Amino acid sequence: MNISSSRRRFLQQLGLATGALATSSIAGAQNVIVPPNLGTGKIIVPDPNKIGPSTSFPARAAGAKYMGGFRAPKLDKVKVAFVGVGKRGVSHVNQMAVIDGAEIVGICDVYDDLAKRSADIVEKKTGKRPETFSGSETAYIDMMKKVKPDAVIICPSWEWHSKITCDVMKLGAHAFVEVPMAVSIKELWEIVDTSEKTQKHCMQMENCNYGREELLYLNMVRQGVIGDLLHGEAAYIHDLRSEMDEVERGTGSWRTYHYSKRNGNVYPTHGLGPVAQYMNLARKDDNFGRLVSFSSPAIGRKRHAQAKFPADHKWNKLEFNCGDINNALIKTTMGRTILVQWDETSPRPYSRINLIQGTLGTLTGFPTRVAGLNLGDGNFHRWIQGGELDAIYDKYDHPLWKRVGDLATKMGGHGGMDYLMLFRMIECLRNGEPMDQNVYEGAFWCAVSELTEKSVAQGGMPVVFPDFTRGDWKTTEPLGVIQ
Ligand SMILES: NC(=O)c1ccc[n+]([C@@H]2O[C@H](COP(=O)([O-])OP(=O)(O)OC[C@H]3O[C@@H](n4cnc5c(N)ncnc54)[C@H](O)[C@@H]3O)[C@@H](O)[C@H]2O)c1
Repeated sequence: MNISSSRRRFLQQLGLATGALATSSIAGAQNVIVPPNLGTGKIIVPDPNKIGPSTSFPARAAGAKYMGGFRAPKLDKVKVAFVGVGKRGVSHVNQMAVIDGAEIVGICDVYDDLAKRSADIVEKKTGKRPETFSGSETAYIDMMKKVKPDAVIICPSWEWHSKITCDVMKLGAHAFVEVPMAVSIKELWEIVDTSEKTQKHCMQMENCNYGREELLYLNMVRQGVIGDLLHGEAAYIHDLRSEMDEVERGTGSWRTYHYSKRNGNVYPTHGLGPVAQYMNLARKDDNFGRLVSFSSPAIGRKRHAQAKFPADHKWNKLEFNCGDINNALIKTTMGRTILVQWDETSPRPYSRINLIQGTLGTLTGFPTRVAGLNLGDGNFHRWIQGGELDAIYDKYDHPLWKRVGDLATKMGGHGGMDYLMLFRMIECLRNGEPMDQNVYEGAFWCAVSELTEKSVAQGGMPVVFPDFTRGDWKTTEPLGVIQ
């Protein structure tokens, strides 16, 4: 190797033996300096040919069938029941009560007053009072046996999601479960297996996939406006520290413990769900491969507890281990990348980022902005935003939004996305169509929680996604642009 004397001097200053160059794996690459080994651990280089998802999975049980694209028999009228009617559940009750073709037949909550509050709403809106069930954490079993619903909407605290979801499918109903569908990969497998065995729909209710901006971008991506997809960015950035005021009952009373016991992204799906559907992840084209993750220090919750609660308060006795901000980078099977961020603790404006980047342009949210060769005058160095977006909406608004968007906006719920989601759930059940989000998508999106926790615990090492479809994602049709 011919190294000039000045370069040799430079290397000597760095303390590098010139022989190191000759023996390195990049020998021959002129001008490349091999750095000294700064770490003490072994450097593990992942096999780039094995991005994932994992090719080892448990065999499907006898009689169980793959649920991607599953169609259930059409229902003329959908009998709906609810489990968990706290803050979120009651807002679904409000909207479901007036959806054509749905009839609310049962309401269950541990707390009797909450069950009755929801039953009052239904009675006022429809003239018919659903039966209520309360008083225990398993009262929903009595409800299932008594009112025999076709579909159950499940909105309790997270530790109950997987058990109730599996039970209602076993007891004969389609399950619709709030985000996150489950907190661990073990629970996600149980849900997938139960759906396959019972042949019941299980949809995680990711409402953000029904936002006007998300539907617009899905439509634009499908039309090839931004070319081949390369990269996405998704987030849930929402300061929820004030929920800690709910000490005995309500969201903060159970969610606060998750910031203590875990360290990763505990709520990944609001930003990730839409990006995953733009990319057709787990649907024929591409899939989740592997993930690396780092968390920031955990400071905000402890400071908040110290500032707001007495020294002997239970929140001041908790250790908050979950980093205030979690960052994850996902590599897909096709080699695309997705940045996923989560922060429920810092003073920062709300964002789901919602960025999708292709070879011809980029679409992003918060605020809605687009740029690309096929957009406006093609000058992609500036965003098209604000009033200039009118032309984009005129041309690319999703047909579903054009059909139901005005009503959804009027009905409210995160700008109409909640109503649109409930509307589609009932429409699909009545028409015998596949759900817009299949059980596997819910599982992949939620698996990010445990995978980030694992990667963080291993200092950011790559972790591979399990394949909840057992290889069948390769034959699952992408979600179409629903008319
Ligand atoms: N998609 C969204 O935009 C969105 C918004 C808010 C909350 N959520 C989700 O909704 C779910 C509920 O959150 P929340 O804020 O309404 O919480 P909450 O604490 O206000 O309500 C949960 C209710 O479930 C009841 N419950 C718990 N275990 C039960 C059981 N075994 N049987 C019957 N009832 C039971 C509780 O008594 C409580 O009333 C969570 O999964 C949360 O992540 C989603």
